Amino acid sequence: MKKNIGSQLALYPMPVTVIGAMNDDRPTWTLVAHTGIIGHDRVLVSLAAPHFINGVIKKTNKLSINMVSEEILSKADFSGSVSGAKTDKSGLFDYETADGAPVIKQSPLTMICSVVDVYNTPNFESFICTIDGTYVEEECLNDAGKIDYHKIKPVLFEFPTYEYLKTGDVMGKCLSFKND
Ligand SMILES: Cc1cc2nc3c(=O)[nH]c(=O)nc-3n(C[C@H](O)[C@H](O)[C@H](O)COP(=O)(O)O)c2cc1C
Repeated sequence: MKKNIGSQLALYPMPVTVIGAMNDDRPTWTLVAHTGIIGHDRVLVSLAAPHFINGVIKKTNKLSINMVSEEILSKADFSGSVSGAKTDKSGLFDYETADGAPVIKQSPLTMICSVVDVYNTPNFESFICTIDGTYVEEECLNDAGKIDYHKIKPVLFEFPTYEYLKTGDVMGKCLSFKND
């Protein structure tokens, strides 16, 4: 029998992202690993309630989810080390705006989202969002126009050791295994 180590957040590794939102005419950025997929038309961004970005997101109900590649990891990490309440993070990344949310130019993939609900749990606000648009570096699309995660190589995160991990190797096509 495996050892029961109690109630643990054990769903790792997962991709780390930089969440962006426009604070009037300036962006703010926050590193977030706790994102999720709900059904096939909504995503979730789980933010500690005291974070600076929460109030900024609520001004416009728009946010961006910027995937973190190795190239921007150092700046992304910084966005998770200081609060916009004390330090202006608006100059951290080159960006352009799309649909009212900031897109990090160096991020290979950015989703622009509209907040449609907030799910409250003790000390956390989880922003439930629909997806307005998905902006991808063209070189990260395959010939069929689909996102190529082998090229994006999203950086993964795990809480227990508080480490970033590289995306791993391919093990096989989904539904290709024979179990006889
Ligand atoms: C690797 C890493 C992952 C993080 N993931 C989350 C997360 O999923 N949710 C969250 O609320 N904060 C997360 N944080 C913490 C925030 O990024 C951090 O507290 C940030 O300074 C808050 O910025 P703000 O106050 O400007 O919004 C994470 C930090 C690190 C370093």
